[in-house]
Amino acid sequence: MINAPTIILVGPMGAGKTTIGRLLSQQLDREFFDSDRVIEEKAGADIPWIFEKEGEEGFRRRETQTLQSMLDEDQQPIVLATGGGIVMKEENRHMLKHQPLVVYLFASVAQQLQRTSKSNNRPLLKQGNPKETLNRLFSIRDPLYRDVASVIVETDSRHPKTVANKVMDAI
Ligand code: S3P
Repeated sequence: MINAPTIILVGPMGAGKTTIGRLLSQQLDREFFDSDRVIEEKAGADIPWIFEKEGEEGFRRRETQTLQSMLDEDQQPIVLATGGGIVMKEENRHMLKHQPLVVYLFASVAQQLQRTSKSNNRPLLKQGNPKETLNRLFSIRDPLYRDVASVIVETDSRHPKTVANKVMDAI
């Protein structure tokens, strides 16, 4: 088994963080967590419900608590996929920058749009035009992903297995 630290995947909605995270966890024989699913389990409610009842701010509070606890409780190295907005809070970026292996899965807005087109559990894409939203988020967040990441892997033209292999190469 490869002796690598916890791998944290960051990147926009539709970058493939969950798919790649699962593949990596299989290859490395370690547990996979998706911070969105952990938030839902702790809340006993899904993300659209949390956004509706608590607003984005409430969701972000839960996201920070979850990131903190996932990294604190982390005895064994894991693979962690994060939500696309994890880099919005300075305290999250601070936590991420102290992690040895943060991978930015880069996807163009065109790819993000295609990969999220059938999704209906992403509240931010329900407000207004998804293309405009993804473009706006990209311009804000792309520099922030780059700031926290130690590795950047382009996902547009690659099969998930190839992306996972690229991440493995970087470990
Ligand atoms: C969000 C991305 C989502 C989820 C929430 C907000 C964002 O996660 O955390 O809907 O702000 O970009 P994915 O990136 O896994 O879709």
